[in-house]
Amino acid sequence: MAGFLDDIEPLKQTALAELKAAPDLAALEQAKGAWIGPNGKFTALMKQLGTFSKEEKPAAGKLINAAKIELEAALVARREERELAAALPKEPTDFTLPGRRRALGKLHPLTQVTEDIVRAFRKIGFAVADGPEIEDEYHCFDALNTPADHPARDSQDTFYLNTSDKRLMRTHTSSVQIRVMKSQPPPVRIIVPGRVYRRDNADATHNPTFHQIEGLYVDKGVTVGDLKGTVEFVFKELMGSDVKIRFRPHYFSYTEPSYEIDFTNVLVKKMGKDWLEIAGCGMVHPQVFENVGYDPTVWTGWAFGFGIERIAMLRYSINDIRLFYENDVRFLRNF
Ligand code: DAH
Repeated sequence: MAGFLDDIEPLKQTALAELKAAPDLAALEQAKGAWIGPNGKFTALMKQLGTFSKEEKPAAGKLINAAKIELEAALVARREERELAAALPKEPTDFTLPGRRRALGKLHPLTQVTEDIVRAFRKIGFAVADGPEIEDEYHCFDALNTPADHPARDSQDTFYLNTSDKRLMRTHTSSVQIRVMKSQPPPVRIIVPGRVYRRDNADATHNPTFHQIEGLYVDKGVTVGDLKGTVEFVFKELMGSDVKIRFRPHYFSYTEPSYEIDFTNVLVKKMGKDWLEIAGCGMVHPQVFENVGYDPTVWTGWAFGFGIERIAMLRYSINDIRLFYENDVRFLRNF
């Protein structure tokens, strides 16, 4: 009897250690069976109680019962732990991933168009760059070779801030060309979607703020042919394979030669027009390369800029630009 009682404590300790070491739910169930299941070692001890005398039984029974209760409690605690661990994801969760679907609302049509344009450019290796909406004259005009007396600088066209250093709301995303080229050596292959500001009075086709996408490609031996091919690819991705584009000579201070891009497809024809002017572009002016510290005898490049609202209006047959900014849900629900 004394030996029997002495065995209980070490047996219990072994059982507790085994329950604790069980790596998963299956191992835990196995340990449970080995110790307190119908064929377990503690159950066997209980059965031996029958062989004890009347005097010995209560003390021995109490001891075994206490040990069994302790083991059962340990089992429950351990099972909860294991169940929780099994329910947690195996891989760390990335909370920045997009959900399967939006829980609420929709993307604004301008955002949808911007994302489509960005997607098309990503396919051909362009990265998205960004820059500030509050700019200075250097990045918006000077470095882009725009003369001091150019009408775009006029306060009739540009919103100047009330600061001593003549800061302004950028009139175009071309300012980001300068920021990117100054921050990295060539080659460069970027697009810049962003908001721009001009002192236009709001009417059906103008608004004091709108959005552009700038593009810049700098490498060795880049040609107008690459520019035309790229623009054509992106517009076909956006508007369908019946798209045609043409380049018309134009003037921009930061490109030489410069062009305006006209565009046509069934939608343009439906509007009763042959062509629609959609963007400005050209080969980066050597002076701009000088300004950012790129050697114009080594590097060539092209740039373009087009209005996102223009494209969205065409795509969705919208004839009033102001609808985009009113945030009337009856309008937004259509997209
Ligand atoms: N910045 C011009 C605008 O706002 C568009 C533009 C024309 C951008 C020619 C360019 C370019 O990069 O090369 O009207």
